[in-house]
Amino acid sequence: MATHKLFLLPGDGIGQEVMAEVERVIGWFNQRGVASFETESGLAGGTAYDTHGEAISDADMALADSADAVLFGAVGGPKWDGVDYDKRPEAGLLRLRKDLELFANLRPAICYPALADSSSLKRELVEGLDILIVRELTGGTYFGEPKTITDLGNGQKRAVDTTVYDTYEIDRIARVAFDLAKTRSNRVASSEKRNVMKNGVLWNEVVNQVHAESYPDVELEHVLADNCAMQLVRNPKQYDVIVTDNLFGDILSDVAAMLTGSLGMLPSASLGAPDGKTGKRKSLYEPVHGSAPDIAGHNLANPIAMIASFAMAMRYSLGMGNWAGKVEQAISATLDKGLRTGDIMQDGMTQIGTTEMGEAIVDELEAIA
Ligand code: IPM
Ligand code: MG
Repeated sequence: MATHKLFLLPGDGIGQEVMAEVERVIGWFNQRGVASFETESGLAGGTAYDTHGEAISDADMALADSADAVLFGAVGGPKWDGVDYDKRPEAGLLRLRKDLELFANLRPAICYPALADSSSLKRELVEGLDILIVRELTGGTYFGEPKTITDLGNGQKRAVDTTVYDTYEIDRIARVAFDLAKTRSNRVASSEKRNVMKNGVLWNEVVNQVHAESYPDVELEHVLADNCAMQLVRNPKQYDVIVTDNLFGDILSDVAAMLTGSLGMLPSASLGAPDGKTGKRKSLYEPVHGSAPDIAGHNLANPIAMIASFAMAMRYSLGMGNWAGKVEQAISATLDKGLRTGDIMQDGMTQIGTTEMGEAIVDELEAIA
């Protein structure tokens, strides 16, 4: 049996609690002998800053680089509001994405049947929802230079963020989106703002080129990012795969996530390019939700997004797609039993805490396996 090396970065706030539940699931796999996982843990975000004076240390970056997959919790919190911009908790996550070249961020928004009534939209609009946002993750406004605030000396300051994309960056993310669409409903919606941004014009052009050259049989539409946000709350099921840039992807994925009932439900995968020799991709898996400092430490957090992120790791990095499906099934079965954390609580259901949810999912896994 191959041993998989996992590097765990729980981060801040509820990141630590939800990661503990993934460790419970990992422990189950090791104990049952169906897989062999070796784990090592590091610090990221504010907790790393408190220890090392930076949002992630070089040593932890090296461990992340050599792992088969990185599992990441969440970072940030009011405690670090005053920290220098380049040492703020989020800088740790951004360094991981950039240095490991994790350009493809996959954010599925799936509505579990048991949660269709927790959505802010009507049941019929979200029931059965299954869309995949493919967000470019290493370019655009997040990383473009210059990125500055300049004092103009007249009592005014000027802030500059730069949005930059080169052809190859758009080309490779478009290919990821088209390839994934082929495994789903074969439809891609590409979203940008070509009506006001040169970046949108080039994005549109390159996506069309890639489509014509390599994926003529995939259905492609273009939708302006503001319209896409509106369509997501009007009729989300019209979409299959949405491909978009870093900044729009950040926003559209939060919108899509909330359609499903709770941010606490959604996993994500961040993938690099396949290695020329081994075909392996660098990868990091994290829940879409943040560190929720307001509820941290009270056994209130929903560990489902984190556990589902581990399932994505099994599917995309560890060649264990079959087991990924079983973990997802165990999550669904737990919800079908009426068990809920506070964020997805509904009348008539049973409210439980973070650890109880982790335990219940492991019990279901045991039953399914
Ligand atoms: C996300 C988060 C991050 C982002 C933050 C924490 C830097 O919102 O992963 O969506 O903006 O990308
Ligand atoms: Mg975000």
